[in-house]
Amino acid sequence: MKKLPIAVIIIPTYNEADSIGKMIDHLFTVTFPIIKNWDCKVLVVDDTSPDGTYKVVQAKQKQFKNLFLSLSAKKTGIGGAYVRGFRYSMTELRADVVIEMDGDFQHPPRLVTKLLKAIDDGYDYVIGSRKIKGGTNPKGWGFKRLFFSEIGGLVARMIMFFPTRKFFKITDPTSGLRASRVKGFVDTMDMDHLYSKSFGYKMEFLFQMIGLGARYTEIPLQFNVRNAGESKIEPQTAKEIFKTVFLLRLNDPVTKKFIKFGTIGFCGFIINKIGLDVFATILGRFIDSVGVRNTFANAMAAELSIINNFTLNNRWTFKKERLPWGKKLIRKFTQFNLSSVFSGIIMPSLVIGAGTHFFGDDYRTFFLIGAVIFITVPLNWFIYNVFIWKKIQ
Ligand code: GDD
Ligand code: MN
Repeated sequence: MKKLPIAVIIIPTYNEADSIGKMIDHLFTVTFPIIKNWDCKVLVVDDTSPDGTYKVVQAKQKQFKNLFLSLSAKKTGIGGAYVRGFRYSMTELRADVVIEMDGDFQHPPRLVTKLLKAIDDGYDYVIGSRKIKGGTNPKGWGFKRLFFSEIGGLVARMIMFFPTRKFFKITDPTSGLRASRVKGFVDTMDMDHLYSKSFGYKMEFLFQMIGLGARYTEIPLQFNVRNAGESKIEPQTAKEIFKTVFLLRLNDPVTKKFIKFGTIGFCGFIINKIGLDVFATILGRFIDSVGVRNTFANAMAAELSIINNFTLNNRWTFKKERLPWGKKLIRKFTQFNLSSVFSGIIMPSLVIGAGTHFFGDDYRTFFLIGAVIFITVPLNWFIYNVFIWKKIQ
């Protein structure tokens, strides 16, 4: 008989003595028997809960051979618990898939079937979402918890993924119910350098899985009210999640590149501005007409800023794709020049012209800023990445 792939349901627990026994019974007697194509195991990761949760698990281990316990003397937070759980699942249990699930029945155990079904369909990462059709928040949740969940989730999504399509596709980034494929994903993830050992870890695992190119999808999650015990979410959890997503985004290679690109662009603007004044003064000795003089002065200053932008981006922002001195560099620099004239001069000029035509001259600066932010910057970013410093495949 062919050996079935192994799915490990990891349940972190801290003071869940009132529900963990029922949870284990339910999984082994109701949920698993209907799953025919997976070898399902349960791993409880407990931090020596004062209420003796682990003792309940130890007693149940006599009954279920596929029940495992990872016990730590120290409370490590839910993130720390999952790191241990993931490692244990890979090394001791040879997991092909790991499932993250709460121990308090807030995540309906029957959804394990749906998570595994999506993995069967070829997805590497499956998230239970409260925000898609069929998903719900607990009926008992007050305005405050709902507000934090909705706004918190939205802000987390924005900070991590805006404006990419992941922002629109991942509707519930803080959700705690997930299935992850091990090979190529969980086994490649960096779990040694987490920004958060508490609830923020959820964002980190999500960010890493997506970064590793996981094919992801969401299934509807009907998030229940707790059936016993208390939530471990603390007042500082929201702040901690916010900090985590911010650090994730800031340290993302693409963001780092974008910051360099932006800094250089800003320097280019300053060079243009100073250059204009300097050249205008110099040309003042030879050209009498103010208009003609400034036209030439700005053309020279703009070219100086273009050369600056090209050189610095080539050496800093795109140092991995750096163009060495030669024919190709000259060709790319020519393209760069033309595209800069288009995105940095022609486009904003048209926008300013049209904008002030319809709204009046008071809006000149408004349209300049708008054109730079919404046209020049995105267009340049796109052209640089796709045409000038195209990654060598
Ligand atoms: N071992 C260990 N150590 N387990 C912990 C710890 C810890 O320090 N802190 C929490 N847990 C366990 C809990 O015992 C529970 O089984 C699970 O982690 C989730 O914790 P809850 O306290 O039940 O969290 P919640 O229900 O309020 O929060 C829900 O919403 C979050 C945000 O959307 C959960 O679904 C979270 O998973 C989710 O991230
Ligand atoms: Mn819970």
